[in-house]
Amino acid sequence: MSDAQVFLVTGPTGAMGEAVVGKLAASGHRLMLAARNESRLKEIADSAAAPDQIATVVADTTKPLLARRAVSETIDRFGRIDGLIHLVGGFHVGPVMLSDLDAYTRMFQANLLSAVSATQAVLPQLADGGHLVYLSSVLAREPFPGFGAYAASKAALQAWVKSLAHEVKHRGVHANVVVMTMADTEEARAQRPHMDFEQATKPAAVADVVDFLVSPAAGGLFGVMVPVLGKFEFSTGLMAGPPGAPQLNRL
Ligand SMILES: NC(=O)c1ccc[n+]([C@@H]2O[C@H](COP(=O)([O-])OP(=O)(O)OC[C@H]3O[C@@H](n4cnc5c(N)ncnc54)[C@H](OP(=O)(O)O)[C@@H]3O)[C@@H](O)[C@H]2O)c1
Repeated sequence: MSDAQVFLVTGPTGAMGEAVVGKLAASGHRLMLAARNESRLKEIADSAAAPDQIATVVADTTKPLLARRAVSETIDRFGRIDGLIHLVGGFHVGPVMLSDLDAYTRMFQANLLSAVSATQAVLPQLADGGHLVYLSSVLAREPFPGFGAYAASKAALQAWVKSLAHEVKHRGVHANVVVMTMADTEEARAQRPHMDFEQATKPAAVADVVDFLVSPAAGGLFGVMVPVLGKFEFSTGLMAGPPGAPQLNRL
């Protein structure tokens, strides 16, 4: 397989889309971008430098039929497909007693079942190895209060990808996850001025790791969860150190 590949990118219309699409296109990969929001899809495609490398399809790839159609369009346009970059996701915050079952259904639909649908469409078309990349959250393993539905759906995604990775590794298909925390975007900063965005994840840092995961240099990685957390840390009063010592995380 040459270094330049063809990927279906599902859900590039969110906060991570522009950085991931820009990086993969700059590396020479050809991309079919699939999402429901047509105008945003076009903006993302136009934001990357090489228009001949990027095509778009308006589709809800959480629907198996539409996911298969997006894969067919990828192969019609570029002649083959080498993998999936799955950016579809959803977010919910709310205490258990204020989150109804619909919130849980939406989280599992957006964060787990979307990945299943897109993967089932792409996998049968990967003849000679390939790459499947998913995005998750640090909260899957260490959830904050109020993040139960979101964290559980991302934890389910991670367990599912690990199982998938074992299924497909013998035919050279790599399934891996990038684990991040809140993306440091202008919009997120405007919505949450009280937060310390020095601890947020830069979209460009995630894009770099996605690009690495689809490269030959990541040939030994199957089913890994790659943390791209920047300067994120869980704060705890126990970090204070012994009496009289400075705070150990601020030396
Ligand atoms: N942004 C963050 O701070 C952050 C933090 C941790 C993890 N992540 C994860 O990183 C990935 C990318 O993040 P992001 O912020 O760029 O994306 P996002 O806003 O979570 O979702 C990306 C796109 O997914 C599509 N989508 C969402 N719910 C859907 C549904 N129920 N059915 C079909 N499509 C749906 C939407 O596209 P259309 O409406 O155009 O179809 C949306 O623009 C996601 O998996 C996200 O959970 C993000």
